[in-house]
Amino acid sequence: MWKRVERAYTSLRNRVDFKPQIGIVLGSGLGAIAENIESVYSVPFENVQGMPTSTVEGHSGRFVFGYINRVPVVVMQGRVHYYEGYTPQEAVLPIRLMIRMGVKALVLTNAAGGIREDLNTGDIMMISDHISLVPSPLIGKNDPSYGDRFPDMSEAYDSGLREMARVAAKKVGLDIKEGVYIQFTGPNFETPAEVRMARAMGADAVGMSTAIETIAAVHMGIKVLGLSFISNKACGLSDQKLSHLDVQAESRAVTGKLSKLIEELVLMASNK
Ligand code: HPA
Repeated sequence: MWKRVERAYTSLRNRVDFKPQIGIVLGSGLGAIAENIESVYSVPFENVQGMPTSTVEGHSGRFVFGYINRVPVVVMQGRVHYYEGYTPQEAVLPIRLMIRMGVKALVLTNAAGGIREDLNTGDIMMISDHISLVPSPLIGKNDPSYGDRFPDMSEAYDSGLREMARVAAKKVGLDIKEGVYIQFTGPNFETPAEVRMARAMGADAVGMSTAIETIAAVHMGIKVLGLSFISNKACGLSDQKLSHLDVQAESRAVTGKLSKLIEELVLMASNK
């Protein structure tokens, strides 16, 4: 796996002469945020050797290198999921790749189902901690040049970045909530019984992507900020049936406010 990461890194580095400071992953339906960046390089996933490619609709799959508020960033438009048939190790390869390209902090966004009562469609929940029901992406031989065999997870979502996000949200007039994200494997949505289990376990919102990405970033010593956009109430908590199309449509509706928050955050984080 580590050789594959290095191969992908060399392949991307040969195309891109750019050192991003902050990496941003855009979740389902949030791809339009990339349109607000002053793009310098755009590289489709399939042009990077050894890179798993995204197969989900609404995840177009490319790295966009450029500037937000004059800060050098890389934006992943579309991500790779465990449920697409990739291993957890493969699913986090793009995260490792962005870190190898130079990023010091990551903003991971996703669409999620709201479990806690006050989390409604259209809300943004900053992730304070996570529960992963997916095998760890660190399973297998460890390369100590990447990180420790047994990384500490007591503050997986950096408290400094969280405080910054609270300030940034206030500045742009956005009321953000906070809570625990739980990752199921997907691709099926959860059953009502599974959602009740998740709630009993202490989860506030449910998704299919971010926890394993955070684990890979923490392994490499990189700070993470997680932002869940609540695209629906989790299964069983409303009388609506869930669909990916609805998730995407709701996400698109929130792109503007999330974009503003990210722009403000990037500026603040780069000054730290
Ligand atoms: N469950 C899991 N993943 C999701 C959901 C959900 O309800 N909504 C958006 N992504």
